[in-house]
Amino acid sequence: MDSRNKKVNRVVLIGTGAVGCSYAYSMINQGVAEELVLIDVNEAKSEGEAMDLNHGIPFAPSPINVWSGTYQDCETADLIVITAGLAQKPGETRLQLVEKNTKIFKEIIKNIMASGFDGIFLVATNPVDILTYVTWKESGLPKERVIGSGTVLDSARLRTALGQHFNMDTRNVHAYIIGEHGDTELPVWSRASVGVERLEELPAEKLNRESLENIFVNVRDAAYHIIERKGATYYGIGMSLVRITKAILNNENCILTVSSYLDGQYGHQDVFIGVPAVINRGGIREVIEIDLNEKEKQQFDHSVIVLKETMKPVI
Ligand SMILES: NC(=O)c1ccc[n+]([C@@H]2O[C@H](COP(=O)([O-])OP(=O)(O)OC[C@H]3O[C@@H](n4cnc5c(N)ncnc54)[C@H](O)[C@@H]3O)[C@@H](O)[C@H]2O)c1
Repeated sequence: MDSRNKKVNRVVLIGTGAVGCSYAYSMINQGVAEELVLIDVNEAKSEGEAMDLNHGIPFAPSPINVWSGTYQDCETADLIVITAGLAQKPGETRLQLVEKNTKIFKEIIKNIMASGFDGIFLVATNPVDILTYVTWKESGLPKERVIGSGTVLDSARLRTALGQHFNMDTRNVHAYIIGEHGDTELPVWSRASVGVERLEELPAEKLNRESLENIFVNVRDAAYHIIERKGATYYGIGMSLVRITKAILNNENCILTVSSYLDGQYGHQDVFIGVPAVINRGGIREVIEIDLNEKEKQQFDHSVIVLKETMKPVI
């Protein structure tokens, strides 16, 4: 069945581990696509996950066809989400995964492109900014159709923490983390708002700079704290990936801090990194350039340098 002719949205998920399955479960519960194909090097795992997920379909908000497939199913996919690869072990940084996951990715992308796939890629595997670059290079697709989950999860973590701190619905909190999805990321406090008030304009009695800094450090290090306790993080990233998927398939033109290719923006090029970008059915419509202050600019530049240095041996 050619899903494009029938205007059916087909999403293929590569990697049915903890992150992939959290994404799949959330996709079904939010009724986002009509077809969801699961692929994993461990075929028994993707088969078992498809069987289990199918049993919940009578309770889903809309019909969805879920099956364990092959790379041939990628041909007519609108979106391919990659969560395959190795995850961080306790104490390991995301950047330490680079060599092993780049090797896995080169093989996966070759298999996908051999199917004739011509849609959009969404990458979550770590280190996500570098693997998004690898996906772009290996696929040969236009840069706007290769997207990394970037700092979408980190920005969500920041919004959650600020919402709790100010006792405000997180949907009324706007705050962005940009840079590498990892140790060198940074918050853009100058663009943060809670309710209708800009954070920086709050009176001193409402705004404690030290607690803001603590909030950021906890957000930056959240994955380490969770991995120490339960071995992996997956629900938050699963829901973040669904949020990006909806922005694409529903042509939302919404702003999310995805990992995007920089072509001169922020004074950098030839790197994928988390920045606010407008997302729609074509992928990344545009990268939004925030006017960073001097300190933020230095931190962002450092993040780019770290990514480029780490990328050198594998690109
Ligand atoms: N971007 C983010 O914000 C974010 C958040 C959490 C985790 N992650 C990353 O997501 C990735 C997956 O994490 P996880 O916890 O789901 O790991 P996991 O070990 O539970 O799952 C990984 C899956 O990938 C499969 N796989 C490995 N090689 C493959 C190949 N060549 N082809 C197809 N499938 C293959 C494995 O069989 C496994 O099922 C990790 O790199 C992790 O660091 C990213």
